[in-house]
Amino acid sequence: MSELEAERRAHYQATVVQGALRTAAAGGDPYASILLVPDDPYPFYERVRERGTLHRSAVGVWTTTSHRVANQILRDRRFGVRTPEGEKPPEFMPFDNSMLGLDPPDHTRLRRLATPSLNPRRLAHWQPHVERFTDELIDEMLAGRGQVNFMRAFAQQLPLRVIGDLVGIPPHHRQSFFRLSRRMAYLLDGVATAPAARGVVAAMAEMTVMFHEIIAERRADPREDLISDLLPAVEDGRMTMDEMVPLCMFLPLAGTETTVNLIGNGLLALLEHPEQWDMLVADPSLADAVVRETLRYDPSVQQYRRIAHTDLQMEGASIAAGEEVAICAGGANRDPEVYPDPGRFDITRDPGPENLAFSAGIHFCLGAALARMEAETALAALAVRVPGIRRAGPVRRRGSFIVRGMLQFPVDLR
Ligand code: HEM
Repeated sequence: MSELEAERRAHYQATVVQGALRTAAAGGDPYASILLVPDDPYPFYERVRERGTLHRSAVGVWTTTSHRVANQILRDRRFGVRTPEGEKPPEFMPFDNSMLGLDPPDHTRLRRLATPSLNPRRLAHWQPHVERFTDELIDEMLAGRGQVNFMRAFAQQLPLRVIGDLVGIPPHHRQSFFRLSRRMAYLLDGVATAPAARGVVAAMAEMTVMFHEIIAERRADPREDLISDLLPAVEDGRMTMDEMVPLCMFLPLAGTETTVNLIGNGLLALLEHPEQWDMLVADPSLADAVVRETLRYDPSVQQYRRIAHTDLQMEGASIAAGEEVAICAGGANRDPEVYPDPGRFDITRDPGPENLAFSAGIHFCLGAALARMEAETALAALAVRVPGIRRAGPVRRRGSFIVRGMLQFPVDLR
């Protein structure tokens, strides 16, 4: 098939999928409406909830917005992220070797190898770096005065700088790393068209070459970073190079856009609830409560999927082996059985049980503590240094049903 033909076919398929989604949404299927990426998905989660704790959508996927059922599925070994035959599901892009795309035992082995690079001692090592980057970015915003797009000027910068240090990207590769990471970020949204897929695949190929070079450099000169941590495991055979490179590439992907949008969604929620922004300004130590409530109220990862590995019964439903369940974290985090008055952003609320922003069970986010630390540092510093910050115009959202966040968030620094 020629490239042009492949592109036409992909465009045709995307059009057919969109058409089918529109038909299902018009027929009243709330999950189809969520997949069409409304600016505000939350009313649709409520309509999914009305249909029961486990509901099969017209698009052929089981859905849940129940905090209890979501937790149960995420911890149930009868579900996995691969098909019952151990294949990656068709919508997965080439990260089949990253731990998020693997079931045990490979998942367990890779997760164990990556965990020390994100342990509390390492986080304490990175904290001063995060504080320094935050201060530099605020200085840069203030130097410009007036209005800025907060996403571009701050939120998109901080996590990339942090992850660059954490993974061990040397200064001369930084600009390429930032550029390629932003192109690969589309992977998180699901890649719908052939040109988009080609862009991602090209960025990944370029990044793979870059990582091979960096790994060779680190071999000669180990430091305190992920690459140096992982090299002994490659040398003694606990991990192959084919696993190490995707792991190094996956961390920036998993840890950047998610944290970017936690910071953006947090500031937006605060500025839309000025009395709570004033509370943070008066007491910046409330930043941990702000971050926890943002993760519940408007999580940057709205949903993820699991595949049944066997026929099973649950909540009165029969799920067949190979069928998928969409865990709607955005909906489960507003489950009224767990969080009273769930649609209210309230940094003073009793936190209650752990929300599902970082998932649960064996794939629970490995970078959760780092993401929280970055967002807490950022929001506390903003409250201290730019207490008069205000929204300065309409926001433009990212078009994704998975990653919820903004591309444009104009703010006035006063
Ligand atoms: C606000 C920021 C973040 C959010 C909302 C988030 C969310 C998530 C979620 C929902 C999952 C699991 C998906 C599933 O169960 O299918 C996950 C997994 C993961 N995240 Fe995060 N993440 C964030 C930041 C980070 C950071 C900063 C890093 C690393 C530096 C990171 C590394 C990972 C890794 C390695 C996994 C795979 C864990 C496994 O499969 O065992 N994440 N994240």
